[in-house]
Amino acid sequence: MWALTVLLLLATLEKPILSLHPPWTTIFKGERVTLRCDGYHPLLLELRPINTLWYLGHLLLPSHKKSIEVQTPGVYRCQTRGAPVSDPIHLSVSNDWLILQVPYAAVFEGEPLVMRCRGWYDKVVYKLHYYHDDQAVRYFHSSANYTVLQARASDSGRYQCSGTMRIPVESAPMFSSKVAVTVQEARHAAAVRLLQVQSRRAPLRLGRRVHGPGARGRRARIVLVRGGHCHPQCPETQPVAAASGARLSPGPGLHHRPGPAGSSLGAGY
Ligand SMILES: *[C@@H]1O[C@H](CO)[C@@H](O)[C@H](O)[C@H]1NC(C)=O
Repeated sequence: MWALTVLLLLATLEKPILSLHPPWTTIFKGERVTLRCDGYHPLLLELRPINTLWYLGHLLLPSHKKSIEVQTPGVYRCQTRGAPVSDPIHLSVSNDWLILQVPYAAVFEGEPLVMRCRGWYDKVVYKLHYYHDDQAVRYFHSSANYTVLQARASDSGRYQCSGTMRIPVESAPMFSSKVAVTVQEARHAAAVRLLQVQSRRAPLRLGRRVHGPGARGRRARIVLVRGGHCHPQCPETQPVAAASGARLSPGPGLHHRPGPAGSSLGAGY
């Protein structure tokens, strides 16, 4: 019981996790994305509604919801009661014909790295090239994502794409802005533990513990999720099997991942 109390206290001090859906840091002007703030709070506080504070740069935004839709570029952060401010997400908004979309969250070695070259209004891009540090690394006849199935640290660098569009006649080749991608070494990869605790009524899911590098901080992070409280986009939180008494057991070697591109956006998705 003491251990559990300590865990709950620790949890109050944890930064909330800010996530972006769909998970790309660059969008076209006029598009909207959803930011979600998942805070950690002790069970007792969870009985009351949790207010969320949202920041764009130094501005306090007028919303207390857990998710907000945004279309303004800038640096977003969120905060839940009693907890420190989340890590930032930088959102870029582009007026270009072509944008290269890369994941907002860190990619770890061994994981897939997906990039998406998009034309304005999702026009098909022809003669599509992807470049890594100014070297063409992939060619597609028309629109396609570039996926590195198992990213390595050497895949870090600056990426760009180019292609033509029929507007209505085929244009000269156009280039996206360059975007930096960092693949974190595997030894920094997050370690996840599921602490399984059986509560009397509903199964209680007592979080994943994420140990991340740099941006995520070095402290253990404990996620508290009550049964049924989990958003569909956190499938890695597993239901707890019936067991007698509190019990700890290691979970799979996962770490926080953004969900797939959401379908909550308007035209273009
Ligand atoms: C690229 O990936 C996104 C997100 O996974 C997907 O929605 C989209 O259809 C893909 N685009 C292409 C051209 O395959």
